[in-house]
Amino acid sequence: MTNNNIYFIANWKMYGNLNSLNSVKKVIELSKKKKFKNTNIIYCPPYTLLNDFSKLTKKTRVKVGAQNCHEFEFSGPFTGSVSPHMIASLGVKYIIIGHSENRSIGENNSTINKKIISSIKQKLKIIFCFGETLKQKKRNETNHVLKKQISEGLKNIKKIDNILFAYEPVWSIGTGVVPKISDLQIQMRILKKFISKKFKSKNPVLLYGGSVNQKNAILFKQINEIKGFLVGGASQNSNKFIDIIKKTII
Ligand code: 13P
Repeated sequence: MTNNNIYFIANWKMYGNLNSLNSVKKVIELSKKKKFKNTNIIYCPPYTLLNDFSKLTKKTRVKVGAQNCHEFEFSGPFTGSVSPHMIASLGVKYIIIGHSENRSIGENNSTINKKIISSIKQKLKIIFCFGETLKQKKRNETNHVLKKQISEGLKNIKKIDNILFAYEPVWSIGTGVVPKISDLQIQMRILKKFISKKFKSKNPVLLYGGSVNQKNAILFKQINEIKGFLVGGASQNSNKFIDIIKKTII
């Protein structure tokens, strides 16, 4: 990992309220420092806070992302849903799609593909998540599962300039358990090779997510293929999130 164009994405999941916005100001201040000029810091709060985040970060280097969307681009009779158009209209630039927490409640590769296509039409940058479960890992199915998630999730998509590939092993999310550095390095190389070949792209952006903290970020940083982190739990505390950023960008 070099210091250039590294991503730090805060996935707040179903946490946070208006009061939480105050703590983000510290991160905005950090982003203004010259040292972090080429660092991408993105906050993905719940839908309820998107507008406030958008206003708070306007004209700053911090960007905002949504955590999911409906597969329809504009509007329709879908109670409780939010469309990519609605999200983009708030000034939001990114969107997480395919998170395992949504896959586990029924979101499949085909739905994910539709959501990605609609979001691309709205010029949102995609944080595309994929990862194997512990059961799949134990059965040695990891590569098969990841390749299927990527191929089906990105069906009919030719250009990946606006797609970030977030590898999040399900068994590592929220557990404090992380892959061994040597294993993760091998996995990232396999993913990079597969994605580069499939999409004829020299440098696909690969991220890692799963129990990232200030200690293991320093270790993961050694892996050249990793261009940043998708951080859950630790991103809700600004000091911890700042620590991850500072320890990674040196
Ligand atoms: P944790 O960092 O809490 O393990 O969550 C990772 C994640 O799901 C990010 O999308």
